[in-house]
Amino acid sequence: MPEIFNTIESLDIKLDSHRRNGKTIAFVPTMGALHSGHLELIKEAQKIADIVVMSIFVNPTQFNDKNDLLKYPRTIEADTNLAQSVGLDFLYIPDVSEIYPDNVDTRLNLDLGLLDKVMEGEFRPGHFEGVCQVVKRLLDLVQCDILVMGQKDFQQFTIVQYMIDQLKLTVKLHVVKTKRDKNGLALSSRNARLTDEGRKKATTIYRTMIYIKKNIDLKPIQDLEQYGMKRLAKAGFNPEYVTIVNGYDLQKVKTLTTSDYIVVCVAAWLEGVRLIDNFVLKTKS
Ligand code: PAF
Repeated sequence: MPEIFNTIESLDIKLDSHRRNGKTIAFVPTMGALHSGHLELIKEAQKIADIVVMSIFVNPTQFNDKNDLLKYPRTIEADTNLAQSVGLDFLYIPDVSEIYPDNVDTRLNLDLGLLDKVMEGEFRPGHFEGVCQVVKRLLDLVQCDILVMGQKDFQQFTIVQYMIDQLKLTVKLHVVKTKRDKNGLALSSRNARLTDEGRKKATTIYRTMIYIKKNIDLKPIQDLEQYGMKRLAKAGFNPEYVTIVNGYDLQKVKTLTTSDYIVVCVAAWLEGVRLIDNFVLKTKS
């Protein structure tokens, strides 16, 4: 079993002894409801650091919908067993009062510019402020060398990297490629809320992104975005966006020459579940 800590005091004593022995620490923040995508993050972290800490904290400040927060699955026992199956070292499960104590102002006042005005930021106002707040707080507490996050939340890791740069934090961000099932559906805690048929249908997101990748040099960008929206709607989704963006600043691109790093990002509802995904169309050189 991974060793479980509910307070930073007890975790820190453990981590300190490892630090003194020159061990490097990787940290994987999560909100629990673990699936094999999270396990992939642990496995990658184990390759690049000596000790791996995972946190489970359902962060209230990143939910703009209080109902969503209440409904968020809490499955600590199953999570612990899964974490054990890949040999996680330490599991940190703090209370809200430890992350947001009354006597500490954890707000960041970090201007995210246009990064959080688009895509997820547009549909979930205040979400990324909450994400930055909790990630910064967790980094302050855990004091890791490497922060490990998934590529599936493209906007999230881009904004976290921006925060690291702006605040001149010494931590290195390591991004792990999205894990997909055999049909291409990106693994997510939310997939569990889909019916079997829904899960099959959900693979249309992947196929749509592949189509866009294949045609990126052949068709105008706006046509490909529109095609994506229509294809998802036809398959029974309620799509929010299919957007082709500059991977550095997350702004929409009109032509391929805008950037050497271009990504298609998608958000769509299916069976009352909001799914997001992305695919790199042009890799940074
Ligand atoms: O991606 C998530 O699960 C959360 O947004 C994170 C990074 C753990 C912050 O609460």
